[in-house]
Amino acid sequence: MTSPTALPLADPALAERIAARLDQVEDRLRTAAAYADELVNDAAHHLADAGGKRLRPMLTLLAAELGDGSRDEVLDAAVVVELTHLASLYHDDVMDSAPLRRGAPAAHEVWGNSVAILVGDLLFSRASTTVADLGPEAVKIQAGTFERLCLGQLHESMGPREGDDAVQHYLQVLADKTASLIATSARLGAMYGGCAPEVVETVAAFGERIGIAFQLADDVLDVSADAALSGKTPGTDLREKVPTMPVLLLRERAARERRPEDIALVDLLDSDLSDDDALARAVAALSTHEVVAETRARALALVDEAVAVLDVLPAGPVKDSFISFADALVNRAS
Ligand code: IPE
Ligand code: IPE
Ligand code: MG
Ligand code: MG
Repeated sequence: MTSPTALPLADPALAERIAARLDQVEDRLRTAAAYADELVNDAAHHLADAGGKRLRPMLTLLAAELGDGSRDEVLDAAVVVELTHLASLYHDDVMDSAPLRRGAPAAHEVWGNSVAILVGDLLFSRASTTVADLGPEAVKIQAGTFERLCLGQLHESMGPREGDDAVQHYLQVLADKTASLIATSARLGAMYGGCAPEVVETVAAFGERIGIAFQLADDVLDVSADAALSGKTPGTDLREKVPTMPVLLLRERAARERRPEDIALVDLLDSDLSDDDALARAVAALSTHEVVAETRARALALVDEAVAVLDVLPAGPVKDSFISFADALVNRAS
């Protein structure tokens, strides 16, 4: 079941139209993930069936409304971005050892790492099949996005080089691993809605900024979310030592100001957090630290930047909905 979207669009008539188009995307998504082998079919539908916000296809459909949103290619473009996202989630949960995704056990918990990785690969192939129907330009864009996604994840895993600024390095990681696909979601929507090149570039630039803001909000959710709402296990990043903005800011601050309570918190975060009580203490201590507010402030500043990028677009319900969409991305509980 897809959960009804928690991301409001400003104009009710537009929201209704997008919701109807999303239903069509949903049908195509299910067909695109269908396999004759029942076991493979179940594993390939596992995460799509578990829920998810579908915000990338929503952004594709919304961007297309700046042109002709009723074109059939727009639906395929929306399927491509959600399939790419879905595939990356199968892989991400293996890499992060995440137990829960979309409120359901992560695929690797059910079928093991090999199946989860291979099903992710299958979904990437199906994304390629669908994008091929859109033509070579779309294929190139999707390939470039996939490359950025992998590079972002690689750079996250490898960490900054000696002498690199850790926060700047991390912002580039977020741009690549998350914002690339969000920007592409908007870009493909505008392109296949037949918008002028300036409009395509504008919505892509908007997507790039809200994408980074979105991932910063996600970093905050790891230490503040209610698992029942987010469908993910709080503290997963901390336990797996996945870098997040609050932790990087804390490390910077501890090195600069040498406050004993900050140093103690860094030591706690660096310790073994496999024990549930230790993890709960780390999550609680970090969630009330100023660095979380600072991360949020950075996310909000990026949303402001994203909204400023939209200045060149004509006023109207689509533009208003882009703005409410951006606000919802950083003010979400799931
Ligand atoms: C999760 O994305 C992965 C990130 C880039 C943070 P979403 O928060 O959009 O996940 P779903 O699709 O709603 O499950
Ligand atoms: C997003 O990173 C991963 C992808 C871009 C696939 P995270 O590891 O922070 O996302 P969540 O928290 O698992 O959803
Ligand atoms: Mg993860
Ligand atoms: Mg990850």
